[in-house]
Amino acid sequence: AITVDPSATGATIDDTMYGVFFEDINRAADGGLYAELVQNRSFEYSTADNTSYTPLTSWTVDGTARVVDDAGRLNERNRNYLSLGAGSSVANTGYNTGIRLEQGKRYDFSVWARATAGTTLTVSLKDAAGDLAGARRVSVRGGWAKYTATFTATRTSNRGRLAVASTGAVALDMVSLFPRDTYKNQPNGLRKDLAEKIEALRPGFLRFPGGCLVNTGSMQDYSEASGWQRKRAYQWKDTVGPVEQRATNANFWGYNQSYGLGYYEYFRFAEDIGAMPLPVVPALVTGCGQNRATDDEALLRRHIQDTLDLIEFANGPATSTWGKVRAQMGHPKPFGLTHIGVGNEENLPDEFFTRFQKFRAAIEAKYPDITVVSNSGPDDTGTTFDRLWQLNREAGVGMVDEHYYNSPQWFLQNNDRYDSYDRNGPKVFLGEYASQGNAFKNALAEAAFMTGLERNADVVKLASYAPLLANEDYVQWRPDMIWFNNRASWNSASYEVQKLFMNNTGDRVVPSTATGTPDVSGPITGAVGLSTWATSAAYDDVKVTAADGTTLLSDDFSGDASKWTHSGGGSWTVQDGAYVQTDTAAENTLVTAGDPAWKDYDLHVKATKKSGK
Ligand code: AHR
Repeated sequence: AITVDPSATGATIDDTMYGVFFEDINRAADGGLYAELVQNRSFEYSTADNTSYTPLTSWTVDGTARVVDDAGRLNERNRNYLSLGAGSSVANTGYNTGIRLEQGKRYDFSVWARATAGTTLTVSLKDAAGDLAGARRVSVRGGWAKYTATFTATRTSNRGRLAVASTGAVALDMVSLFPRDTYKNQPNGLRKDLAEKIEALRPGFLRFPGGCLVNTGSMQDYSEASGWQRKRAYQWKDTVGPVEQRATNANFWGYNQSYGLGYYEYFRFAEDIGAMPLPVVPALVTGCGQNRATDDEALLRRHIQDTLDLIEFANGPATSTWGKVRAQMGHPKPFGLTHIGVGNEENLPDEFFTRFQKFRAAIEAKYPDITVVSNSGPDDTGTTFDRLWQLNREAGVGMVDEHYYNSPQWFLQNNDRYDSYDRNGPKVFLGEYASQGNAFKNALAEAAFMTGLERNADVVKLASYAPLLANEDYVQWRPDMIWFNNRASWNSASYEVQKLFMNNTGDRVVPSTATGTPDVSGPITGAVGLSTWATSAAYDDVKVTAADGTTLLSDDFSGDASKWTHSGGGSWTVQDGAYVQTDTAAENTLVTAGDPAWKDYDLHVKATKKSGK
């Protein structure tokens, strides 16, 4: 029974409570949300991104073509270009099975080219069966200039190739093909189906650009002085301005990021979907297994200044230095930044916090209205977590980012996680969470957990499932909320739960109590089982039945321990016909061994807990 007291006043639920976290993982940006169809368009792929890469990855050559890094380059930050011999051609294979073209749709081609003696380029779209659009001819003469052409696809194909052939010798860079039909028809835009799926969630905020992507790699810039670092932490200034001047970078997840989807595009997208932008900058301490702190004070000062400049880029008037850059990119009005994250999952709590405090002091001194979000490391509990929470609490930090990926049963069992959080301490930004799996049961466990977030909306101010996107052919992390390839996209069950909560965010919590709530102590993943926090617990006569009474599993433990396994440490044995936990592990879960197929049963687990064992 549920008892509700409508007259009682519960916590206020902010409209921004549920949002999304976009990280360029699983090809979420290039080959994903960023609508560019050409892969490695500026020939910058390198072994720094992935040991299997070359500057010609995803290109095929007919004739002579070589990638050159010399003074003839397009610009200092786009260092490689392609030198294509007379009578030669190159073709790009795109992502997944190739370039996806839809009959009747328009596609915008562009290229930067240099041909002192002049040449004619023939640009075509084909697959193994032949032409996918009428070829276009482009005359090139003189120094670097941008050339464009438009195609209308005459056939639909998922295996298209973009080919560029030249009569004479020519230098090429930034070979690009965009669908005209991007999200909101924006230039340098986003893939429509993916952007619309995210918009349909109606997220309250957009956290970007990572994750481990943000705070891993070198903290140096892309310059001659620092040796043209190809593995840098995410630095927002790399990602704004004309796309041909954006330096690409290795992505922590093992590929290259073009930065065509950069900070301007992130802010624009947040605005378009009505979400509060929430960028994260590196704190000069690396996380995600690369545990290092940078002691270079000048470098730290530069990053702090970059962060102040970022706030000016987002909020400054169009006459300010960085506000002007934003205006020149097409958005004179400020984006209205109110929150900024500093750091992500650092494992060195004290080192992180010292540096975080310097960022925070500088930001709060210049922009007192901005909430500076700290974090609590990579785990939901443990020494780093405890230390970081202590430091954050003592320093009166406004908001702390928590991350955890746990089993569905953990989510069911931890619905009350925030009930006991200090009401006077920092607020919680649950920046990343997901139950391990992409099935309906995971979504259900997440939904149950979210009721606990909502009940504690006075403490938990923001929450986002992670990761958001996954290209099915380039997966580094599962589960994910939205899946796609070069031609289609589809939602996970977790997406539907997120959508349900985001589209129906309440105004305030109505306090309620429930009795007779189901026992959630057993796991619901691919196995049925029992859980105990007590030490030396023992179970006998376990019976799992479906709602209609059908026995799905029964075990009297007459000596066969192999049917069962346990998670969370500890050891269990069969003693006197009962399954007994024989050590003092504080938390343990007993599950059926093997991998019984999950069915949509309403399960009833019954067992006798023996005493005295
Ligand atoms: O969401 C995937 C990764 O999980 C993020 O990059 C990182 O912050 C966390 O460990």
